[in-house]
This record gives sequence, C-alpha cells and structure tokens, in this order.
Amino acid sequence: MRRIRPLEGFFLLVILSGAAGHWALTSDPRQRHVEFLPEMVYGAAYEAQDPNPVFPDGRTQQVPPPGTIARGHAPLRVGDRLLSDGTTPWERLDAAERAAWDALVDPWHGEALDPGREAALVARGSAVFQVQCAVCHGPGGLGDGPVTRRGVPPPPSLKAEAALNMSDGQMFRVITHGRGNMAPYAAQVGREDRWLVIRYIRSLQRLP
Ligand code: HEC
Repeated sequence: MRRIRPLEGFFLLVILSGAAGHWALTSDPRQRHVEFLPEMVYGAAYEAQDPNPVFPDGRTQQVPPPGTIARGHAPLRVGDRLLSDGTTPWERLDAAERAAWDALVDPWHGEALDPGREAALVARGSAVFQVQCAVCHGPGGLGDGPVTRRGVPPPPSLKAEAALNMSDGQMFRVITHGRGNMAPYAAQVGREDRWLVIRYIRSLQRLP
C-alpha cells in the first residue's frame, strides 16, 4: 500500500473532523447542542414576590421612589392641593379631598373657545360616550341603554334635575371613581376624554 503523504493526511483529517462535527451538531435538528455562555440564554428570572439578593431591601418588586407619578395619572391640582388621579379609592379620601374633587374644573375652564374647536371637543366627547357609556345611559343619555332591557338597573337620565345640578367636578368624580352601580371608568377613559365626555353630556342637556 502506498504511504499517505502528509498533505493528504491533513486533508483526510479535515474531512473526518468535519464529518464528525456535522454528526455531533446536527444529530437532532430540533435540539440545541453546543451553547456558548448559557447563563446569558437562561437568565435568572425572579417572580414578582420572590426574595431577591440583588436589591438592598431583598425584594424583587421595588416600591416606586417617593414622588413617582404613574403614567397617565399626573396629579390633579386644586388650588394648592394635589390629588392622585383615581388611584386612591373614593372611600379612602377624607372630606377635604372629596370636596376638592367636586370642585375640579375642566382644562378649558374660563377659555373662550371658537365654535370649530368647541365642536371638535364635543365630537370627541360624543365618540367616547357612544363607545363607553351609551350601553347603559342610552345614546341620548336618557338612561335607556340596551343593557337596561336585559335586567341591568337603569341609570338616571343625564337630563334629569340631579344631573343638571351636578358640577363638572362631581361628574368627573363619578366617572373617575364610580358610584353605586356605576363602575369607575378612569382605567378605560383617559383624563382628557373624561372631561370631553362631560362636555358632550352638557351639550345633550342643552337639547330640548
Ligand atoms: C354599566 C352601566 C354604566 C355605564 C357603562 C356607565 N354608567 Fe354612568 N351610571 C350608571 C348607573 C347605574 C348610575 C347611577 C349610579 C348610582 O346609583 O349612584 C350612573 C350614574 C352616572 C352619572 C351621575 C348621574 C346622576 O344623575 O347622578 C354620570 C354623570 C354618569 N353616570 C356618567 C357616565 C359616563 C360619562 C359614562 C361613560 C364613560 C358612564 N356613566 C358609563 C351606569 C353606567
């Protein structure tokens, strides 16, 4: 037999190690094989309530630093008071805070809006009302929404004396915190939309 020359031996080695590598790496194409730095693939995942050695207080879920404002919940200012926007339940507010809520006015208070802008704001309020409120309050706010024909206690008409006498702040509070059979809507309806829906209710109240 002819002797294998060094170069031939080298190529043979390359081919054999290639074949061996191929077999080792692709024996099951559905499995991961060689993993470099597996710690980066499988990072330690802590559950919210797990103890956590990383933080000084040993907890995974961190308390927000004082003064933190949740996104979409910028505090409401009444005079020199700041109110949390619906994140504190109504039952936990003291009398002064409740009074401050009921005294709130909308962001356009005292502004003379031109008719085009006014119409655009009311149109947005109307859209919110039809999507979020009309199921119960009815398309015209009379308290005859479709669910009331299916056993849900009907809300009072928004054109009745009680609603006519409510301040904008009181309505804002009912929409934000809920009242009686009406759930809070702060989570579904953003703050500006809540004011706009009140604007729309006022426009309904002016209709005969
Ligand atoms: C699931 C039905 C339901 C939906 C949806 C609903 N409401 Fe109500 N709403 C009620 C009920 C019931 C009451 C009466 C609450 C009570 O008994 O104190 C009420 C009361 C009110 C009042 C006070 C009326 C008064 O005369 O005291 C206002 C203002 C109001 N809702 C506005 C809204 C707005 C704005 C929306 C939409 C963002 C809305 N509601 C969505 C059921 C609903």
